[in-house]
Formats: sequence, structure tokens, C-alpha cells
Amino acid sequence: MTPAQPRMVRNDGQAMDLAFSDADLRFVAEIVHRASGIVIRETKSAMTRGRLVRRIKALGLGSIKDYMDLLRSPQLESELPDLLNAVTTNHTSFFRERHHFDQLANETLPHLLARNPKRLRIWSAASSSGEEPYSIAAILAQSLKGFSGCDARILATDIDSEMVSAAEAGEYSQDVLGRAPADLRPLLGCTPSTRPGHHVVSPALRRLVTCRTLNLLDPWPFRGPFDVIFCRNVMIYFDGPTKRTLVDRFADMLSDGGTLFIGHSESLGPNHPRLRLSGRTSYTQSRRHHD
Ligand SMILES: C[S@@+](CC[C@H](N)C(=O)[O-])C[C@H]1O[C@@H](n2cnc3c(N)ncnc32)[C@H](O)[C@@H]1O
Repeated sequence: MTPAQPRMVRNDGQAMDLAFSDADLRFVAEIVHRASGIVIRETKSAMTRGRLVRRIKALGLGSIKDYMDLLRSPQLESELPDLLNAVTTNHTSFFRERHHFDQLANETLPHLLARNPKRLRIWSAASSSGEEPYSIAAILAQSLKGFSGCDARILATDIDSEMVSAAEAGEYSQDVLGRAPADLRPLLGCTPSTRPGHHVVSPALRRLVTCRTLNLLDPWPFRGPFDVIFCRNVMIYFDGPTKRTLVDRFADMLSDGGTLFIGHSESLGPNHPRLRLSGRTSYTQSRRHHD
């Protein structure tokens, strides 16, 4: 049974009806799952309601019911990107899961550059507000010293268009930067921005990164191959079949000897035919296993 729901006062002084039933949650969860692969469980009802309320306020609607009606109407199509922006979890930080950046600096990039010093492609496949791709760029810029002829690029993609815009801006608050490891922070080359209390990542790192909106479930508008793919802390939101299909697509997209980094609580399951464990939650493509 759904408990009595509170009311909230909107910015314009009107009360907003916050009633959000289990059926509403299932309805929203179904739309979100079909569009993005994200599974919203019943335990996340309060959190989902909070996220929807922000969107409902932005639209100036009077209740969650009004929003459910909108989602049932042909307006769903144009609303869908904003609904997905509203419900995604975008938590991230610079050099998150530092062991991956140590591996990138000490093993992965030296190996790849020794093999091909002319071309390097890296994909941050759920890049949120950009901390992950700029952390990769900071390590890459160090590794590229002495490889002046290398065409190296990082593609940063996310389903959430607001996060992609934030990543493109490359501007972060002092708080966000302050949480980066003190020894690695200088590699970001941040300088004060025009916004008080904010800093921008160095132009040299920003030039390495291209930001695009992309739903990982959709066809990918590039051929690759990528030498390194980061897809961290997003597959935890997907169901098993979505995860398995995605991992196979990453394996197709990786160069021979290329590496896939996944999040600390994620796993590929035992014995993937083409990806073998090569570090903590990192896997290397080996076509020899496959052919
Ligand atoms: C928790 S953040 C992880 C960010 C970063 N990879 C990290 O580990 O710090 C998860 C990101 O995945 C994105 N996401 C969720 N579903 C997606 C999908 N179907 N396609 C692309 N990105 C998706 C969200 O918008 C969010 O920014």
C-alpha cells in the first residue's frame, strides 16, 4: 500500500501534489528501462520521486499525476531525453578508482605506444560531467611526452545531455577539484575561471577530449577501434542481458591488445571468450582466444 503522500510548495507559491504510487513508479521504470537499459527498483521510489519533482518544477506542472499524463501522451517522445537526464545517477570524481589510472600510466599506455606510436584512441563510455575523461587526458598527456607525432584522442560520451555540456565546459568547483588526489591534481593544469570559486581544465587537455551525447544501447556512430575503453559504474544500473550485449559490443570495438576498464563493483562473469582479466577490474582483448 502506498503511504499518504506529502505536498510541496512550488516556486510560484502553489502547492504541488507529490502523490507517486507504486504503479507510477513501475510505469516510469518501464519507459526508462526500454529507452536506456537502466533498471529502477521499487526500493528507489523516494529517490526517483525526488528526481522527477525537480523536472516537474522545471516544467511548471502542478503534480506528479500531470507529469504521468504527459508521459502517456505523444509528448513522451520530446520529453524522453529530459526524463532520462532527470533519473540518471551521475556521481563521479577525478581519478576515481585510482588503481586504473596507475595501470593506465604504468602498463597500458606504455605498451600501446610501444606497439603503435602514431595513433591512440580512448573512449570514456559513460563520462558523466567529465572528471573521468579529463583524468584520462591528464595521464595521457604525461605518457605522450616524447611521442610528438602521435594522433591521440579521447571520446567522452554519456546519455545525459546536461552532463555532456558540463564535460564540454571542463569547469569545476574548488570542492570538486579539492577531492582529486593531491599528487595528481596538478596534472589537470586547472586555472581560475570567470565563475567565482571555479576552475577550468587546461586547454591542452580539453583539446584531447571530444564530448558527445550517446545512448550506449543505440547503434554507435563510429567504427573504432579503440585501444582503451572506460565503461565504469554504469553497467551496475543495467540488467544481465543488456550488460552481456554491451560487453560483447565493447569487445568488438577494442583493438587487439586493447583494454576495457569497468567499475569496482562490476564484473564480466567468468571466462569471457575474448576479454581476459589483466588488472583490477580491467580486461584485455585477445583475438587469439577467439579465432
Ligand atoms: C555513476 S556515473 C559514472 C561516471 C564515470 N564513468 C565514473 O565511473 O565516475 C554513470 C553515468 O552513466 C550514464 N548512463 C546511464 N545509462 C546510460 C546509457 N544507456 N548510455 C550512456 N550513458 C548512460 C549516466 O548518465 C551517468 O552519467
